[in-house]
Amino acid sequence: MVKIPVEPYRIRMIEPVKLLPRDERLKRLVSASWNVFRLKSEDIFIDLLTDSGTGAMSIYQWAALMMGDEAYAGARSWFNFEKTVREVLGIEYVLPVHQGRAAERILYTTLMDKRGAKVVPANTHFDTGRAVVLNHRGIPIDLPVPEAKKPNIEAPFKGDMNVSALRKLIEKKGADNIAFILLVLTNNTIGGQPVSIENIRTVREVSEEYNIPLVMDICRFAENAYFIKTRNERYKNRSIKEIVKEMLSYGDHFIMSAKKDGLANIGGFIGTRSRELYEELAGRVVLEEGFITYGGLAGRDLEAIAQGLKEVVDESYLKHRIEQVRYFGELMEELGVPVVKPIGGHAVYVDVLEALPNMPREQFPADALAAFLYLETGVRAVGLGALAFAREENGNVAYPDFELLRLAVPRRTYTNSQLEYVAKGLANLLWKKEKIKGLKIVWEPKVKGVRHFLAKLSPIEKVLL
Ligand SMILES: Cc1ncc(COP(=O)(O)O)c(C=O)c1O
Repeated sequence: MVKIPVEPYRIRMIEPVKLLPRDERLKRLVSASWNVFRLKSEDIFIDLLTDSGTGAMSIYQWAALMMGDEAYAGARSWFNFEKTVREVLGIEYVLPVHQGRAAERILYTTLMDKRGAKVVPANTHFDTGRAVVLNHRGIPIDLPVPEAKKPNIEAPFKGDMNVSALRKLIEKKGADNIAFILLVLTNNTIGGQPVSIENIRTVREVSEEYNIPLVMDICRFAENAYFIKTRNERYKNRSIKEIVKEMLSYGDHFIMSAKKDGLANIGGFIGTRSRELYEELAGRVVLEEGFITYGGLAGRDLEAIAQGLKEVVDESYLKHRIEQVRYFGELMEELGVPVVKPIGGHAVYVDVLEALPNMPREQFPADALAAFLYLETGVRAVGLGALAFAREENGNVAYPDFELLRLAVPRRTYTNSQLEYVAKGLANLLWKKEKIKGLKIVWEPKVKGVRHFLAKLSPIEKVLL
């Protein structure tokens, strides 16, 4: 029997949701061109598309909103935000932006231009960061550890970077051609898997040895710290706050989407330890986002993020967060759904190559499963596979290692019984997998790396009511 996680909060406000009948869901899917990103939120019963900006705020965050100082420059809310980032994360210079990808765009392209370098190795790039590098004529390279490529084996820190592959790459390309090294904490693309403190330290050593900046994507820094505390014997008596400070002490520059471990609905920031880089980035923030004390956010957003950063390092919050996602994943596993192991921090990932072994990659199995999951259950999840990550290599299509269906769990939002409904619905669908048809592309955008967000799709065979 899986252990039931008990919420360390009570629900004081609710938002009604409804389950449309199947024939209505089919109509909505057809008008959304079979791409779940194009569905209306009101047509969805349980929305596990993302954990980004979709969580519930606490009473303290709602109260903090009222404290928002909306001055254009030098607002009180800005100083509160800056002080909190310094206290919780130990990062000296901070520039707010409207969300994570703005931080990626400004920091990554500035570093690429400054160093005149194109190659960006990462433990594994996330889709928005990868798109930023690609659209700046860069070369994103994924260097996950070998065990990350085996979805069904248990390993505590599958999010680690393959350090020997990193060294080989640097020797081959030359250190001057590497724009920066990127560590994504936790590693979203390969299953929300954490990065170990030893790996962070070793990557730091390599970055110092070759004089290449180390950038950290810290969207889920608190979840990563909780995994270090619970999976590394030597850290079990250290507080989350101490682990966070140590983890981040090894980075030079940072990007953050406050929509994840900022526990807010919008916002992000760039962090750096370099005064010189901060000054360079500040000009771009003014031009592209807003003045450096608001960066495209309202003062009240800065207050909500500051409060969220304090709450996210609370151990009872984190314990429930990680245990609820694990509970959801273990339920699915018990029902025979092949999930990536161990269960990740913010989402459960279904190994679609295992779940739908007969569907060819060119029919986008992960996205087909997402579309049919909505049709059969009213639940929205997201496909991360060929539609998002396939690329052209010497005239051929190079497929990513995985086809994954990601069921992301918004923070403090859904109850255990809602997650049980999803687990059972998905298991039922996979028992009747002949219902799931492959998809083909009808239209795709020209911008590189964003195809899965916008593509219009259609099933390769007629779907019956
Ligand atoms: C690891 C990671 N980096 C960057 C981003 C981009 O953040 P945002 O959606 O706020 O632009 C995300 C969003 O999902 C993410 O998961």
